[in-house]
Parts: sequence; C-alpha cells; structure tokens
Amino acid sequence: MSDNKIIVDDISKGFGELSVVDGVSFDVRDGEFVAIVGPSGCGKSTLLNIIAGFERADRGAVRIDGVERIGPSRNGIMISQQGSVFPWLTVHENLMFGLSGTSHGDKAGLAHRYIEMVGLAGFEAAYPHELSGGMLKRVEIARALVVRPEILYMDEPFSALDALMSLRMQTELRRILDEERHTVLLITHDVEEAIFLADRILVLSPRPTTISATFHVDLPHPRKLSDPKAQELREAILKKLGL
Ligand SMILES: Nc1ncnc2c1ncn2[C@@H]1O[C@H](COP(=O)(O)OP(=O)(O)O)[C@@H](O)[C@H]1O
Ligand SMILES: [Mg+2]
Repeated sequence: MSDNKIIVDDISKGFGELSVVDGVSFDVRDGEFVAIVGPSGCGKSTLLNIIAGFERADRGAVRIDGVERIGPSRNGIMISQQGSVFPWLTVHENLMFGLSGTSHGDKAGLAHRYIEMVGLAGFEAAYPHELSGGMLKRVEIARALVVRPEILYMDEPFSALDALMSLRMQTELRRILDEERHTVLLITHDVEEAIFLADRILVLSPRPTTISATFHVDLPHPRKLSDPKAQELREAILKKLGL
C-alpha cells in the first residue's frame, strides 16, 4: 500500500469549446501540504473543484484513499475566497451547524475548543456582521476544522484580506497544522504564501492548464522568507510563471 491520500490521474476538463484542464496528474501524501500556483484564469479552481468532487472531469480520475471519487464527501472541506459563514447565525451556532449530522460527542465543547484555537474566545455569541474580515476568516477556518476533515481544500482563502491580515492568517494556519494533521491542497496566487506554508509547490501553465514545474520546499518551520533559500525558490517559481 502507498501512503498516497489523493491521486490525481490524468485529469482533463473543458467547458464547451473551451479546454481548461489538460492532462493533470499528481499524488498527495497523507499529511502533506501541496500548494498550487498559476496564472489567473488558467483553471486552478476548476481543477480543485474536480478533486474535491464538486465538478466532473471529462477524462481521468481522482482517487482518495485508493477509492475513485464520484462526488463530494464529508472527509474533505473546502474553504474558498468568498466565504460561506451564515450571517444569521452566531459564531458558535455557525460551528454547531457544521457539526450537525456528525457523530462527534460534546459538539458544544468541540465548537468552543476550535473557536478558542483560532483566537476568537469571547466572540461565541457575536454575529458575522459584528466581526472584521480577518475574524470572519477565522470563523471560516474554525468551522472547517471542527468537523475534523482529513482533507482541507483551500481556494485563495486569504486573497480578500489585506497583506498584514493575510500574513497573520498564514501564521495561524501553520500553527494549527502543527497541532493537528491534515492533508492540504491550497490554491494561491501568492508565491510567498505557498513557500511559507507548503511542502511542495505545483506551478500550472496558462489555459489549458497542465503542471509546468514542481518545487519541494525543504525548509524547517517557522520559515523566514528572507532566508536565501526561500528567495532562490521564489525567483525560480516566478520565472516559471513568466514574471
Ligand atoms: N462553469 C463554467 N462554465 C464555463 N466556463 C467556466 C466555468 N468555470 C470556469 N470556466 C472558465 O474556465 C477558465 C478557468 O476558470 P477557473 O478554473 O476559475 O480559473 P482560475 O481559478 O485559475 O482563475 C476560465 O476561462 C473560466 O471562465
Ligand atoms: Mg480561481
């Protein structure tokens, strides 16, 4: 048996005449953090949605734990750019909603623990409109993690935040991932974010997209982007992106 959590096997996808994803293959090990960078509109979200089971590929297959994926499942959670916190529920209720229908015991206690983990203790009873953008993003992350997903799919999760808050969220996410093991697939347009967080970075080509390069990030955490090795990597990735 391999320890591959996700196998992406020669995925292609188009919308009508438009060919978007063109033969993408890669594996993700259990517990690995893989970042995907690529030019705007190349097909990153399409690819992630196929892997997460929200969209069907025209060709190829996705296997999770060796089983072919045919739709979304509870063992993976998507965190996207636009967010999906319910405005009519409090922070605590949002997390409880995520837990409804799961078999976790002491749901209220679990919700509280994750609210604390993302630094929102004291805001359990607050409604989303009372929170800042960064705090909302924390609710989003807590709500995703509270169900203990094996796989975290993230589609430019921090791109709507300002630079400082985005940096803060990256640090938080890294700290949480040191506490709990998850397999993560992150799409980002931020090369530094990818270097800060990921074990491996896939660079995608323009549409129809395919993997144009793979970089391993062999740097210990917490990473410093000023590290010459990180800078070298950044240059190499930007060059691959044609920048
Ligand atoms: N449901 C859809 N129907 C038609 N075209 C789509 C659909 N989803 C995405 N596209 C097109 O596919 C291309 C890639 O989109 P997307 O995967 O969102 O790119 P990225 O996330 O890399 O910016 C774009 O040209 C987009 O307009
Ligand atoms: Mg996208």
